[in-house]
Amino acid sequence: MFNLENFDIKLNTDVIGRNFVYTDEIESTNSFLLNKVNKFNTDGTVLLAEKQNNGHGRNNKVWYSTRGYNLTFSILLTNKKYLSKRFNILNFAASLAVANAIENLYQLRTELKWPNDVLVNGKKIAGILMESISNGIKVERLVIGIGINVNQILFQGNYNIPPTSLKLELNNIIDRERLLAEYLNNFEETLNKFEASPNDILKDWKSKCELIGEKISISEGESIRYGIFDDIDEEGFLLLKNNGKIEKIYLGDVNI
Ligand code: BTN
Repeated sequence: MFNLENFDIKLNTDVIGRNFVYTDEIESTNSFLLNKVNKFNTDGTVLLAEKQNNGHGRNNKVWYSTRGYNLTFSILLTNKKYLSKRFNILNFAASLAVANAIENLYQLRTELKWPNDVLVNGKKIAGILMESISNGIKVERLVIGIGINVNQILFQGNYNIPPTSLKLELNNIIDRERLLAEYLNNFEETLNKFEASPNDILKDWKSKCELIGEKISISEGESIRYGIFDDIDEEGFLLLKNNGKIEKIYLGDVNI
């Protein structure tokens, strides 16, 4: 069981996680917070579930997580300051904060993979899925869902990148309450840079992305593109260089 008191003592934020909702079982924390009907509107609301019956990742892939072992949660952002043209950068803020929390607490070296994966020793330890609801071109609700593999040691399913967990990497049971608080503290700190200096978030993210400058392939459904991973632009899209031309990539799985 997640110990709310132990978590609360370690949470140092002003906004993120101050409205904290804990549930045993749900379809998906992302889908629940995205749905206006569910009446959660407070900016920074965090919903943590022990078990999701329809937890999902990018491209509608299933996000598997055994009840009680990991952290599967979503953060609702409703403050207008986040719902700007560059809101994609929030995706980067979310994965950067996972990497920083893991490095701070466990001194494990992390790597970030475009657009939203956190790796340790080349294996995936966490994934982020940002989803939004728009009215015309105006984004109204933004939910950032985070799945961190914490104490699980066996994984089912097919994976593009082999999964790992903190328990597997450290051979120790991990305190989920401490990790979640550290994550949210870190995320709020990163988020506070969003308005004034979003480029700093991008710069820090890129410093942990080892594939920039490498020859890569990007697959999306049936299509595969090849080229050099040139850079990430200011809205967070991947710039792929091929035959002297730069192509902007919006979606896809990057492989070396
Ligand atoms: C990915 O790697 O493709 C992203 C995975 C995101 C999974 C998290 S778990 C909590 C939240 N609720 C969901 O349904 N998905 C995200």
